[in-house]
Amino acid sequence: MAAIDQGTTSTRCLVFDRQGRLVALTQEQHSQHYPRPGWVEHDAAEIWRLVCRLLPEALRTAAIDPSEIVSLGLTNQRETVVVWDRLTGEPVTPAIVWQDTRTGPLLPAIAEELDATVIHARTGLPLATYFTGPKLRWILENDESLRERAETGELLFGTMDTWLLWNLTGGPRGGVHATDVSNASRTMLMDLRTLQWDDELLAVMRVPRRALPEIRPTMGAHGVTTAPVAGIPVGAVIGDQQASLFGQTAFESGEAKCTFGTGTFMLLNTGDQPVLSRHGLVTTVAHQMEGEPTVYALEGSVAVAGALVEWCRESLGLIRSPAEIETLAASVDDNGGCFVVPAFAGLYAPHWESRAQGIVAGLTAYITKGHIARAVLEAVALQTQEVLAAMNNDADLPLLSVAVDGGMTSNNLLMQTVADVLDVPVVRPMMAETVALGAAYAAGLAVGYWSDQQVLRRQWHRAAEWHPMIDPQRRAQMLQQWSRAIELSVAWGR
Ligand code: G3P
Repeated sequence: MAAIDQGTTSTRCLVFDRQGRLVALTQEQHSQHYPRPGWVEHDAAEIWRLVCRLLPEALRTAAIDPSEIVSLGLTNQRETVVVWDRLTGEPVTPAIVWQDTRTGPLLPAIAEELDATVIHARTGLPLATYFTGPKLRWILENDESLRERAETGELLFGTMDTWLLWNLTGGPRGGVHATDVSNASRTMLMDLRTLQWDDELLAVMRVPRRALPEIRPTMGAHGVTTAPVAGIPVGAVIGDQQASLFGQTAFESGEAKCTFGTGTFMLLNTGDQPVLSRHGLVTTVAHQMEGEPTVYALEGSVAVAGALVEWCRESLGLIRSPAEIETLAASVDDNGGCFVVPAFAGLYAPHWESRAQGIVAGLTAYITKGHIARAVLEAVALQTQEVLAAMNNDADLPLLSVAVDGGMTSNNLLMQTVADVLDVPVVRPMMAETVALGAAYAAGLAVGYWSDQQVLRRQWHRAAEWHPMIDPQRRAQMLQQWSRAIELSVAWGR
């Protein structure tokens, strides 16, 4: 079973065996472009070239022939939009990444045409810079010639899954132009209940329907690869956060997971009904097996988590490697009164304040880089706490523990801090690659490689667990200081 995991910072190709064990992994980062403050772009052609290198390399490492791969699961960073020429296969603009905030000034105009409460009710999404629809409107308003070419059918639109699926299955020579319901539910163009593109939303975002991909179930026949290796059936296409919910085997309503990656994404399976949030969460499609009911989720998306640690390394030079943040933070007993709010892309869940800006609060001459490192880890934990609180308010039953995954879960101090501020145990499975595993599981179930979900559940094994240890008074004080810091961050952006 193979998976392609096209993430915000890197692309990975993985091979798994029937027990869900990792057989091979290849990975490479791609360039991040920040042409202006708040703008984040990727080169979709560079990403496709990476897949062309990494997939054959993963098969070579696993020492298997492409014909031995039963099915491929494709998972991806969501919301990021790619526009390309149908005939040449070349992207016509840089891909606008989910974190990009350039559409901020467009949002009031969109709300005038269609009330934000109507958009929320129909798509499950708050009107924010995060989602694809406004990004497409920006692209088409910014270059009239692209609009004309889109209207005449010369251009194709898609999120990263669609771009890769089209290229994998033939590109200009008959590539499959499709997306799945989990990715489409992030575009702000799909009706969450009908699972179809919505004419009114298309009109508001100025998107010609003919340029959009077909919406398909997550698990089903998505075509057969022709490149970079021919003959592999694509059995699943799924957004990366929904994939990790699947990889954690959170198949039942009431089960949740939290991934600590570039951002933090907590998803709660809500079963076959979409639950609209009253507390700032996103309602999203978790997955759909062809011919079966759609499974929905509530999601608390936080834009900046690992990206904050990366910023400490790359932009501040505070640490030389991401792992060093733990050592530095452990060199002090507490944050010394310092709080960091990393609102680099505004604030996502549960605030949805597109204009909020990052702040460091509580600076005194006492503060060292150790305190800053501590405040960085606490910021990740405290943002997660806000999402958990919203989820508990929206759901019938509070979460009694949280299953975690993602690169940052190897940071013990962070995981202890998360358990402390969440005030529930935090559990990590043996297999930390839950995004790719979830895509492989979905692709395998689609073709009957695994008989049912119960088989996959038995493959989930606990590796580590953290329990709350903090003094309740200290916790209450941290939450209170954090909400003051959030207020400041919002006020600063006004
Ligand atoms: O919604 C954005 C999310 O899909 C990005 O995930 O892991 O690529 O940063 P990741």
